[in-house]
Amino acid sequence: MTHDRIYLSPPHMGGTELDFVKQAFASNFIAPVGPQLAEFERAFSKLTGFKHCLALSSGTAAIHLALRLLGVGPDDVVIASTLTFIGSVTPVTFLGAELHFVDCDESWNMDPGLLAKAIETVQAQGKRVGAVVPTDLYGQCADYDALRAVCEPHGIPLVIDAAEAVGATYKGNHAGFGGDAAIYSFNGNKIITTSGGGMLASDDEAFIDEARRLSQQARDDAPHYEHTTIGYNYRMSNVVAAIGLGQLGVLDTFVARLREIFAWYESALSPLPGIEFMPEAGYGKANRWLTVMLVDEKEFGASPETIRLALEAENIESRPVWKPMHMQPVFADVACTGGAVSEDCFKRGLCLPSGSAMTEADLERVAKIIRSVGK
Ligand SMILES: Cc1ncc(COP(=O)(O)O)c(C=O)c1O
Repeated sequence: MTHDRIYLSPPHMGGTELDFVKQAFASNFIAPVGPQLAEFERAFSKLTGFKHCLALSSGTAAIHLALRLLGVGPDDVVIASTLTFIGSVTPVTFLGAELHFVDCDESWNMDPGLLAKAIETVQAQGKRVGAVVPTDLYGQCADYDALRAVCEPHGIPLVIDAAEAVGATYKGNHAGFGGDAAIYSFNGNKIITTSGGGMLASDDEAFIDEARRLSQQARDDAPHYEHTTIGYNYRMSNVVAAIGLGQLGVLDTFVARLREIFAWYESALSPLPGIEFMPEAGYGKANRWLTVMLVDEKEFGASPETIRLALEAENIESRPVWKPMHMQPVFADVACTGGAVSEDCFKRGLCLPSGSAMTEADLERVAKIIRSVGK
C-alpha cells in the first residue's frame, strides 16, 4: 500500500481565506489594487511594527526594490549570507552590483565578526558596501543588534531577509524589525502563503512610497502614462492579498504548531547517536519554519542523503540544507569571508517534513524510517 505523500512544507489554509477572496470578488476588486491589499499591508505593519509595508509579487522583488532604492548599482558591493536561498542574492546581480558572501556562526546566521572582516576586505579594495543582507535562516532571526553595531559606524544599511521568518521574534520584536528595511515571502512553501508574494517593510514613508511607484512601472503623476524612470511590474494583486489576510489570522497557531513539530522530532530523534538539531539562539523565538537536523554519518550509520532516499522511497519529501551560495557554480567568482560552518551545515543537514498540518501519525511515519536506517 502506498501512503499519501508527506510534503516538506505544503500550503495550509486556515479556513477563512476563501471568505476574504469572496469579498474581493463581490466588490469586483479583482485587479490590481483594492481594499484587501490595503488591509493586508496595514495588518502586516501591525504584526511587524514597521510603519509602512508594501505588498509585492515576491520576496525577491522586495529585495530588488530595497536595494535599488538604497542606490545599489554597478560600483557597489552587497554583503549577504552565504547560507541562504538564491532569491536572497539574485537582486544584487539584477542591479549589476558585486556580491560578497559571509559565513554563519553557531546560530546558522550571519557571523557579525566575519561581517566586520568582510567590510574591511571590501573597503580595502576601494569599493563601497551598498548594503548588508543577512538571512533569518529557517525562521530564526540573525543577531540584528550585533550586525547593526558592525554596519552603523560605516553608515551601511541593513536589509533583513526575513523571507522565512514571518512570526519569529528577536528580543521581543517581530523578525526584520530594526532593519533599515526588511523583506518577507509568502511563497507557497512558507509558514503563511498567498500562493506567491512578498512584502517590503520600512519605517521610512518616502522609501516605501517610491518602492510602490517603482513596483507599478514607475508611472509619474499625470493623467496619461508618463515615465521618467524604469520601473517593474511587482505589485501584489488584491485577490492574492485576500488569501494573505486569512493566513495572518492563523499565523500564531502555525508558529505554535511548527515549534511543537520541532520539539517532537527533537525528542524522538536526538537520543539516536549522531543526530542533533538546529540550535535556537537565546535572543529570540524561531518560527521553526522547517525542522532541520544534523547527521554525523559515522555515528548514526547513514548519511543525510541515505535518509533522504529512504524517506523518498516511502513517499516522504525531505531536502538537504540550502547549498551555500559560495559553493554554487554560478557564483564561482564571488568572494566569501569564512565558509566552513555553512559547508558543514550543508554536508550534515537535512530538512524534515514540517507542514503545520502534519499529524502525530505523519511524524511517527517519518521518525520510524529515520530510526530504521541508522545502525
Ligand atoms: C531566505 C529567502 N530569501 C528570499 C526568498 C525569496 O522569496 P520569494 O520566493 O517570495 O521570491 C526566499 C524564498 O522563497 C528565501 O527562503
